[in-house]
Amino acid sequence: MPVLAVPLADWRAALKETGNVDLLVIDTPPSIEAQYGATLSLCAAADIVLVPTGATQDDVDSVTPWMRTLTGADIRSSFVLNRANRRVRSYEAIRTKLLQVGALCPVEIPLLEDIHVSAGKGLAVPDFVKAKAAETFDALWAYVVREAGIRVPAKAA
Ligand SMILES: Nc1ncnc2c1ncn2[C@@H]1O[C@H](COP(=O)(O)OP(=O)(O)OP(=O)(O)O)[C@@H](O)[C@H]1O
Ligand SMILES: [Mg+2]
Repeated sequence: MPVLAVPLADWRAALKETGNVDLLVIDTPPSIEAQYGATLSLCAAADIVLVPTGATQDDVDSVTPWMRTLTGADIRSSFVLNRANRRVRSYEAIRTKLLQVGALCPVEIPLLEDIHVSAGKGLAVPDFVKAKAAETFDALWAYVVREAGIRVPAKAA
C-alpha cells in the first residue's frame, strides 16, 4: 500500500496526487488545534472519521470538544476506544461519557503487546498471521466498511 507524507494544509493537492483510489486512510498529526480549518475541511471530505481515545477522564476531556465540532458540522464520526480494559470499574462510566457526545465504535482495542511490539519492528498487527489482536482489527474494519459504505468484494470481506 503506497504511503504519502504531506503537510496537513496541502491535503487537497495530495488527494489529487493519489488519483482515483478505492481506499484512502489518513492519519492526522497531534495538536489539530494548530491547523483547525484544514483538519475540519479534510474531515468533511472523508466518508468516516475515527477519533481514537484512551479510556481515562483526561482522554474524554481531550476528545470531547473535537467530537462536538465534528457532529456540529454533520461529519460522520465515531470514537474508537484504545487501550481499553472492560474489567475496570471506570470503563462503563467513560463509555457513557463518550456516548453522550458522539457515536462510539462497538469494537474497542485493548492494551495488547502485539500492537506495540509489532510497531517497534515497523510492522502492524495484520502483518502477523497469528496475532492475538487480528480478530479485533478485523471487527474494527467490518465496522468501518459498514459505516463508511465501502463496497468490498465478498472474498476480501
Ligand atoms: N492498544 C494498544 N496496545 C498496545 N500498544 C499500543 C496500543 N495503542 C497504541 N500503542 C502503542 O503506543 C505507541 C503510540 O501509538 P500511536 O502512534 O498509535 O499513538 P498516537 O496517539 O497516534 O501518537 P501520535 O500523537 O504521535 O500520532 C505505539 O508504539 C503503539 O504501538
Ligand atoms: Mg498518531
